[in-house]
Amino acid sequence: MPAVWTVLLLCAWVCVCVPAKSHGALVISRDHEQQDSIDSGPRLLKKRSANDDKIEVVSMKVNCKVASRFAHTIVTTVALNKANMSKEAFFDMELPKTAFITNFTMEIEGRVYVGEVKEKEKAKKQYEKAVSTGQTAGLVKASGRKMEKFSVSVNVAANSHVTFVLTYEELLQRRLGNYEMMIRVKPKELVQHFEIVADVYEPQGITFLDVNATFITNELLPLVQKTVTDKKAHVSFCPTLEQQKTCPDCANTLIDGDFFIKYDVNRAERLGDVQIVNGYFVHFFAPADLPRIPKDIVFVVDVSTSMRGTKIQQTRDALETILNDLHEEDYFTVVLFDSSIEKWSTVLQKATAENVQKAQSFVKQIYSRGATNINEAVLTAVEILNNYEKDDSDLKKSTSIVLLLTDGDPTVGETNKQRIQENVRKAINGTMTLFCLGFGYDLDYGFLDVMARQNDGLARRIYEASDAALQLQGFYDEVANPLLLDVNMRYPENMVNSLTDSHFKQLFGGSEIVVAGRLNEIELDNFLVEVSAQGVDQEFAVQSQTSALDWDTIYPDEEYIFGDFTERLWAYLTIQQLLKKKDIGTPEERENVTAEALDLSLRYSFVTPLTSMVVTKPQGDDPKDDTLIADKLTEEQRKPSRGYSAPPPQWTSHSYSRPTYFVDGDPHFIIELPKQNDALCFNVDEAPGTIFNLVKDPKSGILVNGQTIGDKKVDPDSKVNTYFGRFGIIHEKLGVKLMVSTKEIIISESGKEIKLVWSDTASIKGLNMDVQLTKDQTLTVTLRNSVKFVIILHKVWEKHPYHQDFLGFYTLDSHLLSPSVHGLLGQFYHGVKFEVSDLYEGQDPDKPDATMFVKGHELRVTRGWQRDFRHDIKNGENVPCWFIHHNGTGIIDGTHSDYIVSGLFKTI
Ligand SMILES: *[C@@H]1O[C@H](CO)[C@@H](O)[C@H](O)[C@H]1NC(C)=O
Ligand SMILES: *[C@@H]1O[C@H](CO)[C@@H](O)[C@H](O)[C@H]1NC(C)=O
Ligand SMILES: *[C@@H]1O[C@H](CO)[C@@H](O)[C@H](O)[C@H]1NC(C)=O
Ligand SMILES: *[C@@H]1O[C@H](CO)[C@@H](O)[C@H](O)[C@H]1NC(C)=O
Ligand SMILES: *[C@@H]1O[C@H](CO)[C@@H](O)[C@H](O)[C@H]1NC(C)=O
Ligand SMILES: *[C@@H]1O[C@H](CO)[C@@H](O)[C@H](O)[C@H]1NC(C)=O
Repeated sequence: MPAVWTVLLLCAWVCVCVPAKSHGALVISRDHEQQDSIDSGPRLLKKRSANDDKIEVVSMKVNCKVASRFAHTIVTTVALNKANMSKEAFFDMELPKTAFITNFTMEIEGRVYVGEVKEKEKAKKQYEKAVSTGQTAGLVKASGRKMEKFSVSVNVAANSHVTFVLTYEELLQRRLGNYEMMIRVKPKELVQHFEIVADVYEPQGITFLDVNATFITNELLPLVQKTVTDKKAHVSFCPTLEQQKTCPDCANTLIDGDFFIKYDVNRAERLGDVQIVNGYFVHFFAPADLPRIPKDIVFVVDVSTSMRGTKIQQTRDALETILNDLHEEDYFTVVLFDSSIEKWSTVLQKATAENVQKAQSFVKQIYSRGATNINEAVLTAVEILNNYEKDDSDLKKSTSIVLLLTDGDPTVGETNKQRIQENVRKAINGTMTLFCLGFGYDLDYGFLDVMARQNDGLARRIYEASDAALQLQGFYDEVANPLLLDVNMRYPENMVNSLTDSHFKQLFGGSEIVVAGRLNEIELDNFLVEVSAQGVDQEFAVQSQTSALDWDTIYPDEEYIFGDFTERLWAYLTIQQLLKKKDIGTPEERENVTAEALDLSLRYSFVTPLTSMVVTKPQGDDPKDDTLIADKLTEEQRKPSRGYSAPPPQWTSHSYSRPTYFVDGDPHFIIELPKQNDALCFNVDEAPGTIFNLVKDPKSGILVNGQTIGDKKVDPDSKVNTYFGRFGIIHEKLGVKLMVSTKEIIISESGKEIKLVWSDTASIKGLNMDVQLTKDQTLTVTLRNSVKFVIILHKVWEKHPYHQDFLGFYTLDSHLLSPSVHGLLGQFYHGVKFEVSDLYEGQDPDKPDATMFVKGHELRVTRGWQRDFRHDIKNGENVPCWFIHHNGTGIIDGTHSDYIVSGLFKTI
């Protein structure tokens, strides 16, 4: 049986426009002019985009100020309801998951509604009340790997404006040698006034600052303005409405994605930089030019059955590279675990070229098997690290690391998670660092996270996607180069209180230690700062006196800073650290840190996992209040969802009546993935007559090309609809050649040629090919020991003013083709891994949008359906699928134009 059905369907009847719901608030974050929309014909879109009945985004401004890595971002969006009746405006804003929302206000009809941060439990009661009375409430959802989304909606009176102002703050963390600020902008429509303005002030001096965006094009690039002087940088990006367009006559916007600012600062001083402002101090420590400290590392790798397939392959790839990056003075081994434990070496081995090579060959052969014994695996690693003795020649200081990679919960041996944590904590007893990597969906991330934090480490999620090997390597790179051990940061006890963490197990190359505290006095001199740590072959110790500086001396230009940032930085850092401690320690400690984190969140107005943002907003004509809430997710709550297992009923049962004589659509490619119980689909738009390569398998010598045809007559204002009208199929090895058009079928095998017309019914058994023709319906071609193709004829009423007959093309038993098969369809014959992490309301309430990770890309996709005519040739059946926009960009390798060939039997 075919494991995978791949269907290319030339959809004619599917493309029916569904009118927007009458209350259809087409608003801030929604697509209006989705040329390639899964079900919307261009005509209706034109009508829909008429400016008289919608809410229009008038301006969108992102203003970001960074002072000493502390970033304060304000996003202001103004929308206008152009309709002559009140409408609901939706507002979506994505912010980095590391940021805290600190303010949200709305201005409606001259009145300002200001958000208030409340304790989550209390806010929840209000929220539930609001929901129970049918009112909408804003919520925060995870969005992809790095962001989360805040959405609210509000009623806007006819011809009036609404302004949303969102503020969020975060401390930019140094990783792999730079700070990165990410601003996600998705206006989804052209905006009259669009701007991103960022000001960076770094007292240590800026060494470099790069700006880029995922949506940047050669036309947009010159619009990025950047001025960098010693300590300041100013970045702006203000494309005009014309410049935002995807093409001169288009209504689509180019602005859709992430805008990045990356920079680093000077690191001349060994002590780093201490800033004392307004009664708070902050100390940044990341000395330059330290030699790395050798590490003793055990890679503990899950090879249980759930790792089967791509995950184990990606793990092998990543391990090979990681092993290669070990330094000669490092010691290492690899421990594989499923129900039992397998060690590459029972003792640590020096990372010589020879040993690394041996380990790489070992890693190449790992395969998945058995259950998951996490407890024994980690304890084995700890034992190996505890029990080894180095050569005398290697008595340098070193650091011990256990790096655990798993994709599931413990299933054999000790399976009680708390007991595992306890066992591991006792065994490690502060002598080594544990890093945990959670791979994929089916695991308890919180368990790994707590276990890592109990042992001075941290956990990271590895998303199941084609770039998983790179994610693993990226994480390893962050911890691969310890520079200092047991770093102690000391400040005069009598001058400081409320100090953030000041002891660190390691300082890794490319990162930075940040300590902040509150001072007992505002005015102070002789603030003595000391840092002591263990370096590679000697103690590291520095100390220095600093004094509180006059605000105006440090910050000559007001425009570059925002108020009391040192205090807010201190509060942010304290809350982040408390939140990390709130699930480790004794119950009393936990209670204390939770209470303290909540208190600070409320005092400084941060939306953290303990608090919520509450906005009291007006509701329609009824002035009664309604509550909106923005929450914050913890990492555990960000659990990515696996594909789409159970689509809501309306996605499968939905059917709408089709105008039989009306054809409106383009080639719809459908990739059905029964294993994932899901399907992907995309359109390809090109001029009629274009020939695409659909399948190419050099191994078996098979080639399938298809040529498009257009309508008989084209309305000059409309998009040109195309369908497939001709196919060419060659199987070189079998000596078979077919040409199928809407009129005739020419079959050649071993020099003999047969010509058929669609009005025939025929059954031809050849040497290497069987052909079955059902009059005016289907042609089934079965190649010996290989794939089967079904071509469906869609007959259109002969006198139809615009449309003509066209063909559909289906592949069966495609698994019989070699893994090197490619082409627009062929590349999917052996499956495709994708992950849908986030679902949000789309333009059409029945067709939500989502974020898809596939082939290393992050795409916005739309849930919809296409038709499969295999079983019901007249009407077809609905196949719910994820629609990939823009000619399948991101899901197909390269771009659709890479598949254009010069002839029906040509490969180029
Ligand atoms: C509102 O506009 C619609 C068409 O856009 C029109 O039919 C209707 O009469 C208008 N109503 C008012 C009160 O102007
Ligand atoms: C939030 O912003 C509004 C104006 O936009 C301001 O009046 C209010 O003080 C701010 N609240 C906080 C806590 O900063
Ligand atoms: C900017 O980003 C684009 C797309 O991600 C990339 O191709 C390009 O190399 C980047 N440019 C710079 C200067 O980093
Ligand atoms: C754990 O470490 C502490 C000191 O940090 C030490 O006193 C204790 O003996 C250690 N326990 C074991 C079992 O090694
Ligand atoms: C918890 O907080 C109280 C009051 O602030 C303090 O007295 C107590 O020592 C704290 N307990 C722990 C375990 O930190
Ligand atoms: C698909 O590609 C064609 C030709 O390159 C282009 O004109 C069209 O705009 C593309 N469609 C989308 C939705 O990107």
